[in-house]
Amino acid sequence: MVILKSPREIEKIRRSNIMVAEILEILKEKVAPGIDTLTLDNISEQLALQRKARPAFKGYRGYPYSLCASVNDQVVHGFPSKHPLKEGDILSMDFGLYYDGYYGDAAVTVGVGKTSELAERLMKTTKEALFLGIEQAVPGNRLSDISHAIQSHVEAAGFSIVRKFVGHGIGKALHEDPQIPNYGKPGVGIRLKPGMVFAIEPMVNAGGHEVETLQDGWTAVTNDGSLSAHFEHTIAIMEDSPVILSTVDGTA
Ligand code: MF3
Ligand code: CO
Repeated sequence: MVILKSPREIEKIRRSNIMVAEILEILKEKVAPGIDTLTLDNISEQLALQRKARPAFKGYRGYPYSLCASVNDQVVHGFPSKHPLKEGDILSMDFGLYYDGYYGDAAVTVGVGKTSELAERLMKTTKEALFLGIEQAVPGNRLSDISHAIQSHVEAAGFSIVRKFVGHGIGKALHEDPQIPNYGKPGVGIRLKPGMVFAIEPMVNAGGHEVETLQDGWTAVTNDGSLSAHFEHTIAIMEDSPVILSTVDGTA
């Protein structure tokens, strides 16, 4: 069941998501060769607590950290580690908060120092695909119109969409209905309505779409060792347009 949110609830979800976006902005500035992702995890947790918010992922189904930090061929749910980042790596940071009854959830992928042309193109394509998906989140469209827009853009660029993980509704729970695949034919699924709030999150591999999970039970990596990028926004569907909630100043 897809839970519709009132304007008042959407404002609360916005509050949580603005804080998520602020924290991701601060983390992005710290990313550089030599820093380790466990340090970034610690910083993210401090920044959440300073804002009287609770990191949403820590303890969620036993996930042990506040931040998901996925490097290079890690797709999502990477464990922060003491291993320093190096020039040319790409890092996906996925962060969520719970504040005043509602969740925020967003992710970005950034390069560490100078990255390869392939890595740049992968990150750019994934972010563009997210925005093309968001554009389809309008009343009257169907859910898979979002999915299809994302998949088309990614595959036209010669990359592949991860199928194993999907986007989701969000609100009083981190994961609500519907599940939002990043692939599929258009015109299928529920009809989109004002008041729906979604976390849309394409995960894109430079090689094949297959992923596997490491021994830690969480870290997803590409089967073929290829690079992977991930971007996520929480958005609300309004009367005639989508609005991005996980942004500090309206830009992303
Ligand atoms: N953005 C991811 C998701 O919505 C992050 C979840 S990490 C977890 O699935 F640890 F909370 F599972
Ligand atoms: Co999410």
